Amino acid sequence: MSDTEALEFLDDVHRAPLFMPGHWVQLGIAEPESDALIGDIGLYLSEDGAAGEVGFTLQPASQGRGVATHAVREALQLFFSATGVARVLGITDERNIPSIKLLERVGFKFIESRQVVFRGEPCTERVYALPRNDG
Ligand SMILES: CC(C)(COP(=O)(O)OP(=O)(O)OC[C@H]1O[C@@H](n2cnc3c(N)ncnc32)[C@H](O)[C@@H]1OP(=O)(O)O)[C@@H](O)C(=O)NCCC(=O)NCCS
Repeated sequence: MSDTEALEFLDDVHRAPLFMPGHWVQLGIAEPESDALIGDIGLYLSEDGAAGEVGFTLQPASQGRGVATHAVREALQLFFSATGVARVLGITDERNIPSIKLLERVGFKFIESRQVVFRGEPCTERVYALPRNDG
């Protein structure tokens, strides 16, 4: 997208209310030193408010330092405290090793594999879940 479209998108997500049932919300990941935007975390709250889903992206130059793991942990803490979700799913292509490692570092457990077609290509998704920890 153009820079103008990107700025409009950032402005929109900046104003979006957090955790509306049936909607995704995007949170920015900031570079710890400079506060520059280096990635994002998507959080989806189901229509009935009982379940959630998470997705994440970090720009390549910022990877390999644990920043995404730290940001996802913090975002999930906020999500669990601000909503009543019983568990959050993380769904990733089985070839996406960095994503699988991140989910497992954060404490997600593997539930199942499923065959899907993504952007016209058959692939295997791995579904992970993190239950609410009330302890
Ligand atoms: C998924 C993604 C965010 C993971 O990025 P990442 O940099 O590997 O994750 P982190 O920032 O948590 O860094 C973890 C890495 O830093 C290392 N690390 C260094 N210090 C660390 C610390 N203090 N804490 C945790 N990890 C640390 C870890 O060992 C790990 O490296 P390794 O995989 O070689 O063992 C990134 O690959 C990405 O944006 N991919 C494209 C988008 C995508 O596929 N998203 C998932 C869709 S479901």
